[in-house]
Amino acid sequence: MNEVGAPNEPLSKTLILDGIASPKCDMMTSFRIEPSLDSTNSALQRLPLAQQHGAVILAEQQTSGRGRRGRQWHSPFGKNLYLSLGWKFEKPLSGLGCLPLVVALSTARALSRAGLNGQRIKWPNDILLDERKLCGCLVEMQTSPKGACHVVVGVGINVHMPVAEADAEIDQPWTDLHSRLPECSRNHLAVLLLEELFEHLDLFNKKGFPPLRKYWQQMDGLQGQTIDVFAGKQKHSGIAMGIDGSGALLLDTGKEVLSLHSAEVSLNKSTSGL
Ligand code: BTN
Repeated sequence: MNEVGAPNEPLSKTLILDGIASPKCDMMTSFRIEPSLDSTNSALQRLPLAQQHGAVILAEQQTSGRGRRGRQWHSPFGKNLYLSLGWKFEKPLSGLGCLPLVVALSTARALSRAGLNGQRIKWPNDILLDERKLCGCLVEMQTSPKGACHVVVGVGINVHMPVAEADAEIDQPWTDLHSRLPECSRNHLAVLLLEELFEHLDLFNKKGFPPLRKYWQQMDGLQGQTIDVFAGKQKHSGIAMGIDGSGALLLDTGKEVLSLHSAEVSLNKSTSGL
């Protein structure tokens, strides 16, 4: 049994707030759990900018859950975790290139603390288990006229996904936490995820990516793998060589080492060990 919660219980404000260790809980400025929302990221973005920093929104269901690159995120009621957190950075957008990696790292560490082994990050911020997608992170940023950057971090974790429905709705290999940790409660997971996000967003804000880079590299599921990378209309193939200091993916094509900031990665099936 977990420190808080049981596998099937509804999301609980009391269990989550009581579970978060101090002083991390002091970074939270507001907290809401809704039965149903279009998207927790969209709901957070509807708050006035001044109220977004430290605000947390969870939902039992999302009717228009959003994924990266315009995809939808399948979000059935009461089964998974859909969580968004607002954060304000006193840095320009250009200083936040590694933020999606920080969110992935925080999520992967929360899963480790929940008892999971073997999860890997697929650059920039997918979390895979046995080559199947377990979690997705959506980081959306907007600048204010005063130069600050307001970020909404959204994390979706498949906890106990209904199989038939998901097979019909999700167009890529997926998995859920229940397949490995059937006793894991969503409330416990929310506590761990929020603690990790608070700690690492705060550290990233103060010191940037350098102190976090080695932890990300330990979870890097692409390192040494043969991959295909789609950047705009171009396709590159080669061996993943990790990341540089700006969070860009390094790809050794055999002719040169490319540094890619925005791209879609597909694993070459014959060599993948994720
Ligand atoms: C991805 O495409 O991998 C990112 C998926 C992100 C899903 C989460 S669920 C909570 C938050 N609200 C959303 O609408 N999306 C994110």
